[in-house]
This record gives sequence, structure tokens and C-alpha cells, in this order.
Amino acid sequence: MDKNLALEFVRVTEAAAIASAHWVGRGQKNKADGAAVSAMRERFNLVDFRGTVVIGEGAKDEAPMLYTGEKVGSGKGPEMDLAIDPLECTDSVANGRYNAMAVIAAGAKGSLLHAPDTYMDKIAVGQLAKKVIDLDASVKDNLKKVAKAVGKSIADITVMVLDRERHQQLIDEIRSAGARVRLITDGDVSAAVATCFPESGVDVMMGIGGSTEGVLAAVAIKVLGGEILCRFKPRKESDIVEIKKTGLKDLNKIFTSEDMAKGRELSFTATGVIEGPMLEGVLFREKKIITHSVVARGVSGTIRYITTHHHYYK
Ligand code: FBP
Repeated sequence: MDKNLALEFVRVTEAAAIASAHWVGRGQKNKADGAAVSAMRERFNLVDFRGTVVIGEGAKDEAPMLYTGEKVGSGKGPEMDLAIDPLECTDSVANGRYNAMAVIAAGAKGSLLHAPDTYMDKIAVGQLAKKVIDLDASVKDNLKKVAKAVGKSIADITVMVLDRERHQQLIDEIRSAGARVRLITDGDVSAAVATCFPESGVDVMMGIGGSTEGVLAAVAIKVLGGEILCRFKPRKESDIVEIKKTGLKDLNKIFTSEDMAKGRELSFTATGVIEGPMLEGVLFREKKIITHSVVARGVSGTIRYITTHHHYYK
């Protein structure tokens, strides 16, 4: 992937993050999402590349912008597939809660799994534990093995889990295995990716969340050297139909990060809207706005943290 393209994408996620940050705490999730979507789309079209949205805001008839299949970019330059979430955690923004960001995952044509929008069961860890996780093993077994791999006692392992009723049994099992649970109201992309940054304090992410979010996280985790395993968990009959349309025969297939994000021509770019386990949020200061982003490139394995001061004078 072109070196500069990954950096160009930071301007795109910054624009989306700033646009949606104006809506933090205003109780209007659609406005927050809409602001992020139009800022992201506008900025994409200033970048010299030929992008196809493979995971976007929805089907063409339900999403006017950044729908699945939409072409973005100036129309000149390299061809890329895009999995995007202009605003991951719309509810967190509407309610002024923890953890929201703007995200772009990019890959060579055909490299990203075209996951329909349903749920997936997931487990994610950083580099040291990448070889020991197993979606079919018990919670206790996974946590014992992760603890050994990262050189900690199980009591010092922190598992981030979405705070949902469906996770009550999982939460009980994590606690009875002796590990800690950190519940979050939203945002399992950053929770999963945070496992690759030891300073985040998150060792494992477990539970059922969005399937498109699974692919976004897989791109980052693959580049960062960790692992995420996912299995479709359809919510309803029509989800099964959509999954089958992708050509998947075995609904129980466990996808690795390599299955969801193939090759090395990958990049992950995210800008925080509200602080989460991975990034600080947008800060409004006198005559400037400060953003915090991360860019990871597959070809080089480089990870860049970018703090940008956007000056404006009224
Ligand atoms: P949205 O921004 O699309 O609302 O996603 C937020 C999120 O928390 C994701 O991070 C997660 O994968 C998904 O929702 C979980 O879905 P649900 O809220 O239905 O449990």
C-alpha cells in the first residue's frame, strides 16, 4: 500500500472525528453519525486513490453515503477496498459516554472479508498470546493459557466485555476463572485492538458484537501482530441468508485475522472522538482542536500515534 495513502487517511478520520465530536452529549445519535459520514466522504474524495467501500454504512437503498459498493477517492491512483466506520459508538457520542472513534481499514482489492451486518462471537489478544486462544475452548482454559503466555497470574488478567445481558454467563465465567472484567457500554473494535497495546491494560476482549466491527478490528490486529478469532452468530433467519450469499458454506467456521484481512497491503487508521482504551478523544481548546489518531501499516508494521493541533481563527 502506498505509504502516503495511510497518512492521507488520518486527515479523513480526523475530519470525521471532529465533525461528530460537536455532537457529544446532545442526545442525537443520527446527527452525530451523519456529521461523521459526510465529513469522511467529503475528505475521501480529496484523496488520490480509487476506493471501493466493502463494509460501509449499509446497503445502497438504506444509506445515501458510504454505502457498501460506493466508489470513493479522486478516481486517480491505487485501487483499495475499504471497511469503514465513520463513527464507531454513536450511542456513546449521543450520551457523552466513554469510547468512540472514526475508523478506516483499507486493503488491496479482495483482501477484506465482506461480512454482512450481523453478530460475531469474538476473542482477541495481543502478540504474546496469539497462538493460545481457541473459540471452542472454555473461558477458563483460554484465560489460563493467555495468563501463562503473557507471564501474568490469572488474577491480573483483564478482559474487556460489552455490557450486555447476553454476556452474563461469560462475565460469570471470567470472574470464576479469577480474572477481572471491564465492562464497556459500546465499542468492541477499540477493546479488541487495545489488547495489542500492553499499556492499555486490556489483555483479552471476549463476547458477541457486530460482525463488521470484527473485520475492522481484524485489520488492525493482524498488522499489530495479535490475533482475533470470530464466528458468525446470526441474530435472525435473514442474517443466515445474507451470510450464505457471501458463499460461506460452514456457518460454524472460525475466522482468523488472516481470513478476514488477507496479505500485507493493509492499513488501519483511527481517530478518537471520546477517550477509550486505545485513544484520547477530540479536545476543543481556544482557537484550536486537538485530535489523537493511530495509523498502522501492514507492509512495514509501523505504528504511528499522531496528535494534531488544528488551528482556526474566527
Ligand atoms: P454502533 O456505533 O454501530 O452503534 O456500534 C457500537 C457497538 O458497540 C459495536 O462496537 C459493537 O460491535 C456493537 O455495537 C454491538 O452491538 P449491540 O449494541 O447490538 O450489542
